[in-house]
Amino acid sequence: MNRKEYWNEEYVKYWKSVTAEADDGEGVVSRIEKTTRGDYKVPGEKEAINLFRCLQYEKSDKLLDYGCGFGRFYPFFREISNYYGIDLSSAMIQESIRLYPENAEQFVVAEGEDLPFEDNFFDKIICYGVFDACYQEKALAEMLRCTCEGGIILVTGKNADYPEDDEQAFIAEEAARKKGHPNYFTDVKKLIPQLERYADIKQERFYRCRGDFVKEEFSSTMSDKFYEWVLIIQKKKHEEYKFEGFSDAYSNTWRIKNVCKS
Ligand SMILES: C[S@@+](CC[C@H](N)C(=O)[O-])C[C@H]1O[C@@H](n2cnc3c(N)ncnc32)[C@H](O)[C@@H]1O
Repeated sequence: MNRKEYWNEEYVKYWKSVTAEADDGEGVVSRIEKTTRGDYKVPGEKEAINLFRCLQYEKSDKLLDYGCGFGRFYPFFREISNYYGIDLSSAMIQESIRLYPENAEQFVVAEGEDLPFEDNFFDKIICYGVFDACYQEKALAEMLRCTCEGGIILVTGKNADYPEDDEQAFIAEEAARKKGHPNYFTDVKKLIPQLERYADIKQERFYRCRGDFVKEEFSSTMSDKFYEWVLIIQKKKHEEYKFEGFSDAYSNTWRIKNVCKS
């Protein structure tokens, strides 16, 4: 199964089941609308919105929701920014357009590694729950290219060195591979010095174990081992963005554990 098939078929089934479970009988649109009022029904939604509030929007800001899925964050942004959503899955974009027809022209099917926007186009990019599915070196270079000087990018991901006692992270890694879920780990220690050439790091959050993100338990200082991470960066100036490999489909933790087993 290629990645488009996965996101058009398997993930649509999964997401529909999650939102159906969270539905309170008033329908999914009503549930998403409630998100903006603080009545969160899907795990992770409240924490995502809290993170986005750190970004200090201006009404005129052009914002890209990179890998927007069903556009669930559109209701939060519609009052505070000029919202664009891209996703490689046409099924996701169709559903976003069905839910929010007033923004139809700004929901676009596109691969994050090849964005159909001019250099410096956006003031803000959020890449939430998507980076681990991307060809990361290309994806980050594209985000930087399309952000204006001084613009802000928020990225979340999974670290290649997570604690060996984090069974849940290990189980999730194996399960993703079995399902064919595109899943890449970031070597954050390799990424940060490269990123600092092009951007200032405004905020960093490191979540030790799987599950800490929804509890909002994080450290602002990087330790040796952690699982999820969030970076909020500000682009310095426009140039060519090149990254040496900092991501892999297998975590370092998985490799260590499997070498130990054999
Ligand atoms: C886990 S979902 C998160 C969706 C959304 N950000 C949210 O939190 O509701 C990942 C989304 O990223 C999209 N995606 C995965 N890889 C992508 C890529 N390389 N370029 C653009 N979108 C991608 C998938 O189709 C899916 O909609």
